[in-house]
Amino acid sequence: MICRGAGRRRGGAGEARIVALIGFMGSGKSTIGRLLASRLGCGFVDLDAAIEAQSGRSIKELFAEEGEAAFRARESAALAALDSRRRLVVAAGGGAPMTAKNRAFFRRVACFYLEIPFEEFLRRTAGGGQRPLRSLPLSELKALYEKRRPVYEQLGVRIRAGGRSPQEVVEEILDRLRGG
Ligand code: S3P
Repeated sequence: MICRGAGRRRGGAGEARIVALIGFMGSGKSTIGRLLASRLGCGFVDLDAAIEAQSGRSIKELFAEEGEAAFRARESAALAALDSRRRLVVAAGGGAPMTAKNRAFFRRVACFYLEIPFEEFLRRTAGGGQRPLRSLPLSELKALYEKRRPVYEQLGVRIRAGGRSPQEVVEEILDRLRGG
């Protein structure tokens, strides 16, 4: 078990103290992360929510007022601030793994890639909501999805999140953490 008592069981400096969830928008990282943290008895950080709290602005406002590059800098800083934390589940924004420095973070922790098909992403995020990139043309969204997929696959243990409930996904992650 990564969080509760993990340090005692395996103890080594290489112990994965943080569980990170990556994946495309709408893959359920925040919902699943919160559930997983409560099952593990860990803290939980939603990276987007941390950025919003720190900046006092919504992700949408940050994109509109500062631009994507500035948002990415905030995202990297928020992730780096978690480096020394223990017993934590982190739900990262969908674009976080596209920055080299962030990838080094995800390699140091227990990282899971929540995979959903492109069509399911479209359905789940149909309203757009707080996601500025969701309004990109369909062809650009598809290109983004295809570009990111190999990066996610390289960094995280792939977990099928499409067509499954958050509870089912959490059970699979717990099994994997137990070495199943
Ligand atoms: C983004 C995903 C969002 C948020 C921002 C950018 C992305 O998070 O970080 O809108 O680049 O895919 P979710 O993956 O939680 O939607």
